Amino acid sequence: MRNFGFYAPTRVVFGKDTHLQVGELIKECGGKRVLVHYGGKSAEDSGLLDQVFSSLREAGIAYVTLGGVRPNPRLSKVYEGIALCRKEGVDFILAVGGGSVIDSSKAIGYGAADPAGDVWDFYTRARKAGDCLPIGAIVTIAAAGSEMSDSSVITNEDGWLKRSCHSDAGRCRFAVLNPRLTYTLPQYQTESGCVDILMHTMERYFVNIETMEIVDGMSEALMQTVIYNARILMTEPGNYNARAEIMWAGSLSHNGLMGCGTGGGDWACHQLAHELGGMFDVTHGAALAAIWGSWARYVYEVNPERFAQFATNVFGISCDGMDFEKTALSGIEALEDFFRSIKMPTDLGGLGLHLDDGQIQELAFKCSYEDTRTIGMFRQLNRKDMEKIYHIANGDSSLRS
Ligand code: NZQ
Ligand code: ZN
Repeated sequence: MRNFGFYAPTRVVFGKDTHLQVGELIKECGGKRVLVHYGGKSAEDSGLLDQVFSSLREAGIAYVTLGGVRPNPRLSKVYEGIALCRKEGVDFILAVGGGSVIDSSKAIGYGAADPAGDVWDFYTRARKAGDCLPIGAIVTIAAAGSEMSDSSVITNEDGWLKRSCHSDAGRCRFAVLNPRLTYTLPQYQTESGCVDILMHTMERYFVNIETMEIVDGMSEALMQTVIYNARILMTEPGNYNARAEIMWAGSLSHNGLMGCGTGGGDWACHQLAHELGGMFDVTHGAALAAIWGSWARYVYEVNPERFAQFATNVFGISCDGMDFEKTALSGIEALEDFFRSIKMPTDLGGLGLHLDDGQIQELAFKCSYEDTRTIGMFRQLNRKDMEKIYHIANGDSSLRS
């Protein structure tokens, strides 16, 4: 197994009514003038924002607001937030929303703490983010895990590039996780979130090196829990326990715990899905579901035993006479069946995309950073491999292998 570091400094406050503590939590962090950052209408319509404002007032904390963050959060909104923070002397950012709002908050935090440069440099990796305004999050959708992760993913409208920045400086000081806040989610968002949570563990699980038993065991339990409860939420969106299991799985899946000893993970599906998000504005979790089966069939032969372990330990598929290949393929089918059972796509058509050759070439060109990098660890993929996987997901199965 590989050496690893583990750093999870975010204070978690979990359970019913926990969002009402937000004023005190910010006070404990030393925040005096807060930017409350949020998305479209959901936090306003549910009354959550009003409760947040009351809690801030009760704690004697001044605040300004900036809403309008869109899924696949945009760089232009980040610039707006940075300017507002400077003008108003903001010393703490409160994200009220999902991964998009938290990621936008992190980007604003990096930019506000770096008066000299352009925050986009941190996303192109031209510079490394070294400082960030302190951030807290009230999470309203279990999905991205940004509340405990070191990353932020932003889309630059200039070229429609979706890029990530990783830094411990942007990690949230606290994460308020109240499962009841997720009751108002549309089914599509709930289930896309479940896929994203599953994939954050799978990206770390599907590596072609020796892993740790303890991490494999936790990962397999997490995957089973998400699959079980995602199905419950299809018919019982108000099931508190199912919401709670999914919400805690969301944070644990992406706080680094499931990647200890795995050398960081594969992440090819995320890279492929991010380009789809950048170019076509599709929902992140659904894009992962649409690409995963094509990726899995393209790469599994490198180590069918690992896929067979997944099939057996997550789906209970017996390793038929030690035929790893057959078991591996059954496991891939089982996961795709699960995606279908929660109304998630298993190809690009299911995302509403029917791409031509030029669009696929553009996706692969962008994903390979203009043919200057490979992606993946289970199997390294170059630009041509990326094109093939997009083609398979687009319905051209003759390109497999
Ligand atoms: O804008 P509002 O009106 O709030 O609507 C949102 C949005 O339309 C809605 N929503 C959120 N909470 C709701 C709600 N609707 C009703 N009731 C609620 N309680 O859900 C929609 C999606 O929100 P979004 O924040 O985009 O979802 P998610 O948490 O899935 O975040 C996706 C973004 O996170 C990035 C993705 O790439 C994508 O841009 N990721 C961030 C990661 C990280 N920072 O660690 C890791 C992930 O792999 C991912 O890449
Ligand atoms: Zn993700």
